[in-house]
Amino acid sequence: MAHPIRIAPSILSADFGRLAEEVAAIASADYVHVDVMDGHFVPNLTIGPVVIDAVRRATKLPLDVHLMIEDAERWVPDYARAGADSIGVHVEACPHLHRTIGQIRELGKRACVVLNPATPLEMIEWVLRDVHMVLVMSVNPGFGGQKLIASALEKITALRAMIEARGLDVEIEIDGGVKVDNIADVVRAGANVIVSGSGIFGTKDYAATIAKMREHAEAARRR
Ligand code: DX5
Ligand code: ZN
Repeated sequence: MAHPIRIAPSILSADFGRLAEEVAAIASADYVHVDVMDGHFVPNLTIGPVVIDAVRRATKLPLDVHLMIEDAERWVPDYARAGADSIGVHVEACPHLHRTIGQIRELGKRACVVLNPATPLEMIEWVLRDVHMVLVMSVNPGFGGQKLIASALEKITALRAMIEARGLDVEIEIDGGVKVDNIADVVRAGANVIVSGSGIFGTKDYAATIAKMREHAEAARRR
């Protein structure tokens, strides 16, 4: 059974001065995607647990927290406590990936493992059975508004096959450069959780954009 389509707006492209209103305006989405950057693993610095806590109070939607940080094990408990429902950690930033995933699960959160565009799928072979979701980056992490790297779609299709061959129940998320006009391609490749930052917050009517994305995604599945 295919997993349902989940639209996850990335608040990185929201107006941080009006964050509660911005989050309220995406209530028709499925998750709120929150990008945490540390200025070390990625060349940008964004938000920490106190902001997650504020977002938690501004919405009922599950929070999908994407950690682009070094030393994730040290911070995972803080993000769990602040209200994350799912916590994603990068393969490239976690030397003890299996342990970090176990830590997320022990805190009762959904565990997600994240791959940069250049990182091969083989890196997650031995943790695939331990995660709820794999996030395939379709841009190099650090900034919103970049163009989708096409090879990510091929990677998603290979990942879908890898998951099915093992009979696992793992969701596939894509993050970076997804908009109304290419969402059908990413769904056809095999992703079901769709992150979009500028593709939603760069438009006038967020709810209308989310509805359009959902429509295109569902239609791509029917075809
Ligand atoms: C990039 C972040 C993304 C980003 C996506 O490092 O992980 O979540 O906000 O933004 P768009 O959809 O604009 O590429
Ligand atoms: Zn992200």
